[in-house]
Amino acid sequence: MTTEAAEAQKEETPPGTMYDWLGGEQAVKNLVNRFYDILDSDESLKPIRAMHKEDLSPMRLSLFEFLSGWLGGPPLFIERNGSPCLTGAHQPFKIDAASRDQWMQCINQAMADINIEPKYREMLTPAFEQMTEMMRNTD
Ligand code: HEM
Repeated sequence: MTTEAAEAQKEETPPGTMYDWLGGEQAVKNLVNRFYDILDSDESLKPIRAMHKEDLSPMRLSLFEFLSGWLGGPPLFIERNGSPCLTGAHQPFKIDAASRDQWMQCINQAMADINIEPKYREMLTPAFEQMTEMMRNTD
């Protein structure tokens, strides 16, 4: 990369982590709460909603804690659970391409609804896609 290109990139991306760029703890909580509100109300997400327990409040905490560390903030999930491995937690569920796509639809809608800047959404969507593909455990 040329010096000018590196300088231009620095200007576009402030110092810190994605956790900071999004707005820290409150922004991550807002994202997770919006995600589960959508999961709980959008008819097209019924198949993956049905995999979850009736009470989504423990998941609101778990996903917040996981994303906090994943986005570069405090590693709360690892502190509480010891392991950042999520594939085991998803083994009991039959997660196919349709489930993966529903999860992506839900997170993309949540990111748009809480007004995450498009430039950060463009970075996060492919990262979430990789994660959901890792959770897929059947065709
Ligand atoms: C690919 C589609 C996915 C489906 C269908 C799915 C579904 C589920 C279900 C059914 C549970 C258990 C819920 C409950 O106990 O009520 C769960 C747990 C969890 N999921 Fe997912 N999930 C997916 C992808 C993801 C992704 C991409 C992440 C992270 C970015 C994630 C993070 C978590 C966390 C943190 C837990 C809690 C694990 C624990 O407490 O040990 N999931 N998921």
